[in-house]
Amino acid sequence: MWQQTDCVCLILSAIITGSLSVSWDMKVSPVVSVPRGEDAVLSCFFTHPGQQDYSGLITVKWLARESNAPPFFKCSLRNDSKEELKDCSGSGLKQSLKGDPRQGDLSLIMRKIHMADSGPYFCRVELDGVWQYEQKETRLLVTVKPQILSLSVVEPSSGSTTRRLKCEVEGNPPPTITWLSDSRHLSTDQVFTSPVSLERLFSSVPYVEGEVFTCRVENILGGAERRYPADNTLIITLSVCGLIVLLLLCAGIICCRRRVLNRRLQSSDSPAGGDGELQLVYTTVSPKTQHESLKSSNSRHLEEEGVVYSPVNIQ
Ligand SMILES: *[C@@H]1O[C@H](CO)[C@@H](O)[C@H](O)[C@H]1NC(C)=O
Repeated sequence: MWQQTDCVCLILSAIITGSLSVSWDMKVSPVVSVPRGEDAVLSCFFTHPGQQDYSGLITVKWLARESNAPPFFKCSLRNDSKEELKDCSGSGLKQSLKGDPRQGDLSLIMRKIHMADSGPYFCRVELDGVWQYEQKETRLLVTVKPQILSLSVVEPSSGSTTRRLKCEVEGNPPPTITWLSDSRHLSTDQVFTSPVSLERLFSSVPYVEGEVFTCRVENILGGAERRYPADNTLIITLSVCGLIVLLLLCAGIICCRRRVLNRRLQSSDSPAGGDGELQLVYTTVSPKTQHESLKSSNSRHLEEEGVVYSPVNIQ
């Protein structure tokens, strides 16, 4: 009984893997989301029928925007070649292949991506023979953390009389801008918001001298806010505190140095209380002077040819 079910399973799995290996398959991530300025990897893997003994040409193509656009990246190599990837990779290029197409890896590295790089991409592989190809879509989403780029009052343009407070922000996915005010409630028709570019937009509100507003920007990646007029008191307090800490530090360092110097001077000067340390001094003495010096002192000595070792009291 056991053997029978084992057998059935084996046959089934053989059929399943067998049928998988004889059909085209291509795997991509539907959306690849990467922060602006970093490198993006658009992954793409494929298998095809008869790959066990395929030795022909593999042509890799990457297209952008349209599924029938001319490729912005293209390279070919034979599956039976042992060569390096040469035109398929190259670290200096904006794009290069990450893996080896001979192993079914068509993944593309795009370096230092910009906002304009976002959009749909198509991974395509062509083998020998007219209809032997496969293509799949993936999408690159370039993310930008929300930030406030500027917040300032603009003078009235022609045709209007009110000054406006303008907040320019960036972020992707497109962020929301919120105005906060302690002094008054803003109605929606007073707020004007408009895109500047793919990741930038600005918003403005009517502004009267003396009012305090906060511009807040948010998307799923986070948020930021800034106050107008800028809260200077905090900055001033912080810088004053910083200066005081710096001065104290300097004073401390100078103090410490003086103490160390004083200590050194004291220990090298005549020691207080006459507790002079006995130190061993090695001197070369000529035999004549040696005897005189020995007579004058009672200290013990060692004698080698012309060398006398004697303890000396340093004052
Ligand atoms: C290339 O050949 C090897 C072995 O000969 C095989 O394992 C591999 O799947 C082939 N690659 C393609 C893309 O056909």
